[in-house]
Amino acid sequence: MITTDRGRSTMKIPLKRLMVLVAVLALALAACGGSSDDGGTTETEVPGAAAGDPVAGAEVYKGTCSACHGTDLKGVDGLGKPLAPSAFVAENSEAELAAFIAVGRPVSDPDNTQGVDMPPKGGNPSLDDQDLLDVSAYLKAQN
Ligand code: HEC
Repeated sequence: MITTDRGRSTMKIPLKRLMVLVAVLALALAACGGSSDDGGTTETEVPGAAAGDPVAGAEVYKGTCSACHGTDLKGVDGLGKPLAPSAFVAENSEAELAAFIAVGRPVSDPDNTQGVDMPPKGGNPSLDDQDLLDVSAYLKAQN
């Protein structure tokens, strides 16, 4: 009896470790899958995640973005790039756009082509996460 118990108890340790490892790997895979766009991510809806409202986003756009990107989203020479039509807007998801707008793209960024800063949140620090999702939904709706 004793030897069997010992045998079992020593077997349990590696099994538990394996299960922890599997759980960690599953979490890591889930985290990676969430940010990529192809492959197994056919279900794009995330339960509980707030989606942007394009109508509210139009107001955010008018108030903060139109000065540099134009009221018609066609861009302004020497300032913001066109946002409709825009390959960048088309290629990025609403959440990815919101994340981009939050940080902007300074002149020091190698991807900057205009030689002008895209300021974080378009230079309006009062915009919250929902505002950024809303304006992203508005941009997606125009592309
Ligand atoms: C002070 C001017 C300014 C304001 C205000 C501004 N932007 Fe920009 N934005 C820029 C510039 C300049 C670029 C291009 C940077 C570069 O050269 O890559 C840009 C780039 C972008 C891009 C990437 C376009 C692409 O093709 O790479 C998006 C998306 C964008 N802006 C969204 C917004 C949104 C949404 C707002 C309002 C919340 C906003 N911007 C406000 C100046 C501005």
